[in-house]
Amino acid sequence: MRFVRLSTLCLLLVLCVPQAEAEYADVVLNRTAEAAGVRPVIYPHWFHRMRFRCKVCHSELGFVMRAGANKIDMAGIMEGKFCGMCHNGEIAWNVEHCDRCHSGLPGLKSGIRGGDSAGGPGYW
Ligand code: HEC
Ligand code: HEC
Ligand code: HEC
Repeated sequence: MRFVRLSTLCLLLVLCVPQAEAEYADVVLNRTAEAAGVRPVIYPHWFHRMRFRCKVCHSELGFVMRAGANKIDMAGIMEGKFCGMCHNGEIAWNVEHCDRCHSGLPGLKSGIRGGDSAGGPGYW
């Protein structure tokens, strides 16, 4: 009984928490990826946010703080923009590791995934 009540409470909490908890969640980026024949990108926001301050990305590197607001493209990344500002083989592993970023299951919609849990690459 206690278990049932607890799980109902958990479910309610999950349903009531607003979606925009990107601080802890993953961001799915599928504006162009799947249409171009690669898997959607899972950006593990929480994983990065543990390592860098918000202002590094949202002020110094210029990422707009809204899911889908940055028009990220692969050519830009390869030229060292967007994710490529760090995924360049110096600060983090380089762009040759396609699957580490393009890890989402086909059909995933862009947006925030996971609320207060972070699945990370390959989870969704
Ligand atoms: C550091 C992360 C990262 C890596 C590594 C990466 N990509 Fe991407 N890629 C992205 C992001 C983010 C987008 C934008 C996705 C979206 O919004 O649909 C993207 C978009 C794309 C697109 C969509 C069309 C375009 O040109 O933007 C293609 C095709 C693509 N990547 C291919 C690749 C291939 C092939 C590799 C490996 C050689 C690769 N990517 C490695 C993050 C990455
Ligand atoms: C390593 C880079 C990085 C760091 C550090 C970072 N973010 Fe983000 N953040 C991003 C990216 C990339 C996106 C997705 C943007 C997109 O989809 O175009 C994002 C998206 C967001 C969003 C949008 C969520 C939504 O629902 O639209 C919010 C809010 C946000 N970040 C807040 C924060 C806060 C608060 C911190 C610090 C505690 C932080 N970020 C640290 C890169 C970062
Ligand atoms: C401010 C620097 C920075 C930016 C910008 C950045 N990353 Fe990262 N990223 C890192 C670092 C550092 C790691 C950890 C590398 C390691 O473990 O060797 C990492 C790891 C990752 C991982 C692996 C997570 C895991 O669980 O192992 C993925 C996936 C990833 N990044 C995707 C992206 C994508 C997609 C973007 C662009 C939307 C991006 N990153 C932008 C610094 C950055």
